[in-house]
Amino acid sequence: MLPTVIRRAPAAMASVRPVLVVAGIGNATGTGGATARLFAKHGYRVALVARNADHLNNAAAEINNSGGEAAAFPVKSYTYPEINALFKAIRAHNWPSQAKAEIRVALWNASHGVWKNFLDVTEEDVRDSVEGNIVGPFAFSREAILAFKENELDDRGRRGTLLFTGATASIRGNVVTSAFAAGKHALRALSQSLAKEFGKQNIHVAHAIIDGGILTDRSLSRHEGDAQKEYKNNLDIRLSPESIAESYLYLTNQDRSAWTWELDLRPAHEKW
Ligand SMILES: *[C@@H]1O[C@H](CO)[C@@H](O)[C@H](O)[C@H]1NC(C)=O
Ligand SMILES: *[C@@H]1O[C@H](CO)[C@@H](O)[C@H](O)[C@H]1NC(C)=O
Ligand SMILES: *[C@@H]1O[C@H](CO)[C@@H](O)[C@H](O)[C@H]1NC(C)=O
Repeated sequence: MLPTVIRRAPAAMASVRPVLVVAGIGNATGTGGATARLFAKHGYRVALVARNADHLNNAAAEINNSGGEAAAFPVKSYTYPEINALFKAIRAHNWPSQAKAEIRVALWNASHGVWKNFLDVTEEDVRDSVEGNIVGPFAFSREAILAFKENELDDRGRRGTLLFTGATASIRGNVVTSAFAAGKHALRALSQSLAKEFGKQNIHVAHAIIDGGILTDRSLSRHEGDAQKEYKNNLDIRLSPESIAESYLYLTNQDRSAWTWELDLRPAHEKW
């Protein structure tokens, strides 16, 4: 007798290479860039989204040249109409390997940071934090979820995975973070609400609290001399973007019976 357990073929994944959309790439030296590279290595086509077109095109070309498939989608801002047009463009994109695209994973990594004492925070700072940390991700989530709803279940029983990059400020306010933490708390609340509402539709939503400094060109430039060497080489005091990306891939690969909504990541020696 043949065994009666039939492993269902990963129908959707086998015929159409999935697309990862990453919003918030900066100059691709941080979390967004590392995630795009890692997913590209794992067979995803990557749609790179940011406001600086030059950085985006460089990052897309680099992924392309190392055997991946990437396309750059610059946006002027993260408003509802811009993000609606963005997802239309991603869906219509003619990927060289195969035109048909299925958006399976979306990462919101864009962020608007404000680090000021409360009495120095201006109305503009507050509005920018609300735009960057609340309105933008609401619009992005809406379009990602609408795209996922069109997908068949994949081999792990999912239609799609929506990931959010959080920060220490997602769960803790502090002396210079009133405007930033208010935005990051809201982003976490959004992700939790979406996890509850769309889990039932087989859409996985997860939030990652990055509780420590991340090694990027920018953070490295804030250190000098020996301190810079230490920050670069000491795995105990900062997070590597590549390691965060590994966690995002892990979240994306979870099957429906044991989904993580939230994880937190910090270097071993973080003094929290
Ligand atoms: C990536 O490579 C494809 C050909 O495989 C090309 O059509 C596309 O323009 C390239 N994109 C970038 C940003 O280099
Ligand atoms: C991506 O997320 C990290 C962690 O919150 C943040 O430091 C970085 O600025 C984000 N990238 C962009 C382009 O906003
Ligand atoms: C990325 O941007 C930072 C400043 O935010 C800069 O220090 C660094 O040199 C840039 N790296 C690349 C590869 O463009």
